[in-house]
Amino acid sequence: MREYLERAKLMGLSIGFVPTMGALHPGHMSLIERAKRENDLVVSSIFVNPTQFGDAKDLLNYPRTPDADYELLKQHGCDMVFTPSVAEMYPDQSLIEMKFGDLEKVMEGAYRPGHFKGVATIVSRFFEIIRPNRAYFGQKDFQQLAIIKEMNEQLKTGIEIVGCATMREPDGLAMSSRNIHLSFEERKAAPVIYNSLLLASELVRINEPEEVKHTIIKIIEALGGFKVQYLEFVDSLTLKPITKWQSHADQRACIAVITSKTRLIDNVAI
Ligand code: PAJ
Repeated sequence: MREYLERAKLMGLSIGFVPTMGALHPGHMSLIERAKRENDLVVSSIFVNPTQFGDAKDLLNYPRTPDADYELLKQHGCDMVFTPSVAEMYPDQSLIEMKFGDLEKVMEGAYRPGHFKGVATIVSRFFEIIRPNRAYFGQKDFQQLAIIKEMNEQLKTGIEIVGCATMREPDGLAMSSRNIHLSFEERKAAPVIYNSLLLASELVRINEPEEVKHTIIKIIEALGGFKVQYLEFVDSLTLKPITKWQSHADQRACIAVITSKTRLIDNVAI
């Protein structure tokens, strides 16, 4: 991988990198297409990273569709796909421990302890090996994007981190590899997540954050099957929870919802 890419760099070609865990869908492809437009070569990786899963069952059940993935990547003009083994990526205990302060303590960090350390470790390993000019991440995982930007600052990699808009199904549900775990009924009801976040971004005009939170959780949980694990209104940069609306700051509504077999996350600008 390194040899090939070093040669490409010597020829003056720029490299765009799109890390994934496979089970690819049009959301992932939007990242590939953007990378294709902005770079000479596009490299993707498919690696179901064990260190970012807290639960062994979740890791085991994570969907794996390698043949369909290669086909999609080929169709969208990805030049290379890197599919290392766990042993290659984790030869021994890492010596470096990365810290992200409050960024990793809230929301996903609070409910998935160790998750972001796992994400940061694997992404920094990929950055070391691939050394792209640009790397592409979805805003769908808003907190992950913030952590990766912070890691990239700390490591001074010189890589440009590009955040890309969330791709959605026609009814508004954010595309996710985990959507296949939804039952027929849950899939029918799932657009309520995005629709209620849109409603939240309207309610800010008339209600305080706590009131909006209460309303939205009630709407989502009224459907029966869903449980809201958290709904937070945060500052888009620091991810600190907002208790009073700020007219001048970028704010984000972030949510995690538990369904019978899976957990869905989404977020919108407020
Ligand atoms: P994965 O969930 O496979 O997602 C890979 C990339 O695709 C992430 O940057 C994610 O934000 C983006 N993505 C997922 N769904 C999207 C959607 N509907 N619209 C736009 N982009 C979307 O995120 C991971 O893998 C891993 O944590 C990884 C970064 C690869 C580290 O293991």
